[in-house]
Amino acid sequence: MAQLTLNVNQTNYTITVTDTGMPLLWALRDLVGLTGTKYGCGIEICGACTVLVNGQPQKSCDMDVGSAVGKSITTIEGLSANRSHPAQVAWIANQVPQCGWCQSGMLMSVAGAMNAGHHGASIVNEVQNVCVCGTYQRIKTACTNL
Ligand code: FES
Ligand code: FES
Repeated sequence: MAQLTLNVNQTNYTITVTDTGMPLLWALRDLVGLTGTKYGCGIEICGACTVLVNGQPQKSCDMDVGSAVGKSITTIEGLSANRSHPAQVAWIANQVPQCGWCQSGMLMSVAGAMNAGHHGASIVNEVQNVCVCGTYQRIKTACTNL
């Protein structure tokens, strides 16, 4: 057992883990209680589990919780107050989500691409997340003015 403190959405959470090698995704969902970050493939492919770590996109199934200590983690719950991040505004305006499962990870990847200086089509090229509902065309449209 180990006690770790994670900084998530600018709040410190102290959690007890049995293994510091636990995926950050499990810690966020089961120990911190933030379930907006989704489990998809678990093998670093789909991107449903994407969060921001120090502002950059990170697949949380591919990062052990011990490595997240001391870093600034942002989940979909902390992307903005009141869904006001420009990507969220564009997503709503273009009615991007269908089932929604991939969308929190998708938005975090888009936000991370924006943080890295990408705009418009450049964001679309950067984001490799999978959407099994096929919302790609709407994503492309929503990213046009970002
Ligand atoms: S659940 Fe992490 S990449 Fe698919
Ligand atoms: S909206 Fe359903 S998986 Fe993307």
